[in-house]
Amino acid sequence: MLSYVFMKILELRPRSYDRRINRLSGHRTRGIKEQVAAAVRPGGKVLEIGCGTGELASLLVSSGCTVDAFDLSPSMVTAARERIAAEGLEGRLTVHQMGVEAMDTLPGGLYDAVVSTLVFSELAHSERRFALRYAHELLRPDGCLVIADEVVPRSLGRRVLQALFRLPMVAATYLITRSSTHPLRNLAGEVSEAGFVVQKEQRSHGDTFAIVIARRIDKHVAP
Ligand SMILES: C[S@@+](CC[C@H](N)C(=O)[O-])C[C@H]1O[C@@H](n2cnc3c(N)ncnc32)[C@H](O)[C@@H]1O
Repeated sequence: MLSYVFMKILELRPRSYDRRINRLSGHRTRGIKEQVAAAVRPGGKVLEIGCGTGELASLLVSSGCTVDAFDLSPSMVTAARERIAAEGLEGRLTVHQMGVEAMDTLPGGLYDAVVSTLVFSELAHSERRFALRYAHELLRPDGCLVIADEVVPRSLGRRVLQALFRLPMVAATYLITRSSTHPLRNLAGEVSEAGFVVQKEQRSHGDTFAIVIARRIDKHVAP
């Protein structure tokens, strides 16, 4: 999954983004989105953070969910809206152009699930904290959070290998986009610090990728 370093380059062309990232990742990206969609109860109301072209949102709509999605990039939002028109998703999928820093403007306690794939590794620590804090506020009690992203492996040997293999790709990506991605050191820990109960952390791809499934469980206060 080291190929995810090149995400920032592929994002420059939203129309071919899904096809290229899927090919570059050995056709795993689509499978990851299917796993994330499968972790969400069918038929609920879902918020997607950083929806890109709306591929995951479209899968969620297929399972009966209604999705509000947002992305910072105007060209990604345009591609997602083209998908809505092409796939007839009007009324089931709404896409807004905004960044995570505007999550405090969304109505609280409304969503059954908040999902995100390959976005948190692009965010600064403060943005991740903010996004998780508001994901918690926006969910209904017992709502579910599912985040999938590149992570730092647990063993020292794998961490060294990841850093060595990533370095030239990070340099090339930075030269072209002036930005990079950062595998997450403690995704499950950040999720639980935001008040969630982590139910599952599914690691894959040589321990460099994780899907974290967590729940907003409000403590019952005795009357
Ligand atoms: C690698 S793409 C992943 C897109 C999609 N989630 C997927 O898995 O196909 C990362 C996306 O995160 C968006 N993004 C980056 N920073 C963001 C922010 N602060 N707020 C909202 N979206 C952001 C980018 O515009 C981009 O569409």
